[in-house]
Amino acid sequence: MRPKTVTPAGIWGTGIYLPPRVLTNRDLEKMVDTSDEWILTRTGIRERRIAEEGQAASDLAVPAARQALAEAGVAAGELDLIIVATNSPDMLFPATACLVQHALGAVRAGAFDLQAGCTAFIYALACGAQFIATGTARWVLVIGTEVLSRLVNWQDRNTCVLFGDGAGAAVLGPVPEGYGILATRLGAEGAGAHLLSLPAGLSRHPASPETLAKGMHYIHMNGREVFKFAVKVMEEGFAEVLEAAGLSPEQVDFFIPHQANTRIIEAAAKRMNLPREKVWVNLDRYGNTSAATIPVALHEAVKAGRIKDGDRVALMAFGAGLTWGGMVLRWYDPRKENHIAREGEDGHYPHEAV
Ligand code: UT7
Repeated sequence: MRPKTVTPAGIWGTGIYLPPRVLTNRDLEKMVDTSDEWILTRTGIRERRIAEEGQAASDLAVPAARQALAEAGVAAGELDLIIVATNSPDMLFPATACLVQHALGAVRAGAFDLQAGCTAFIYALACGAQFIATGTARWVLVIGTEVLSRLVNWQDRNTCVLFGDGAGAAVLGPVPEGYGILATRLGAEGAGAHLLSLPAGLSRHPASPETLAKGMHYIHMNGREVFKFAVKVMEEGFAEVLEAAGLSPEQVDFFIPHQANTRIIEAAAKRMNLPREKVWVNLDRYGNTSAATIPVALHEAVKAGRIKDGDRVALMAFGAGLTWGGMVLRWYDPRKENHIAREGEDGHYPHEAV
């Protein structure tokens, strides 16, 4: 049956979990041939979080999800769908989302993982919003979670200094007309797939003594080429998604970029004409947590009072694939008093009562 209307989807609550163990640049100096000065000036990273032994992606996802659900005022049992954006799932299958579904007791929810490199959270938000738009789902939990410390080669200074572990979650639900996701653009350049990959362990290169000896079960990256791609798509993708939303750069109140490198963020912000105070940067504290950077940064910016009801917020990310994605939302704060009730007496979605 075709939906009668398109229901706008927005974020009702967010949550994060960062493992407490801190690994500083100074600690890394003792592990590989690097320096605090090189890491800080080339990337902007000072320290990153590392999961405890035995902690997997779902273990980080669950506390982040619980916080997001509590903030949204949504019970786990009300969830219709759980999408976990990750490049470091607990295992290839079952999906990490199913493990999270069970841990939360979200018995009604469908659950699947989505892998799109560091852009995965934006892809997952876009995906969840479609289910809400068509009325197929009402409450969708989207989580970005990574334990990349298990996938990096701690002897490869080109990659091991960059990544960190963490999780961020968002509860998507129906919002009044004019709020929520205004525009989305998703892109991919598969021609650059070889530039960032974890080659072995699956059907192309099954795990073998040879793949192990060659370190093919670790992240491999051509940093310089990924950097060039990133600067290009951050600018072009931003222009595209703003055009789709019918906004000029000046109308963007806040910008949440993927946290991979401050030089990429600064170059992008400059080209987009966004002043520093409109941009959230936390990679000095967490490094690149891949699919988790956007939800963690979004949560922090909201908590810091930098994103308020009615603000136009742009999200931009890029990563393995190579993929990129941009999204513009008009922020909906469910606690703001002059919004209509979450559910009308007749059980309608909020926007239907507007
Ligand atoms: O989320 C998506 C994931 N990936 C990214 O976003 C990565 C995007 N790329 C980058 O952020 C940057 O390219 C890096 C930070 C990875 C590297 O910075 P760069 O300015 O592009 O450096 P480079 O790769 O061109 O390397 C410059 C030099 C090299 O030495 P030589 O060959 O010039 O003698 C590297 O061996 O820096 C060396 N180097 C290091 N030196 C000290 C590379 N890693 C390190 C290190 N410490 N950790």
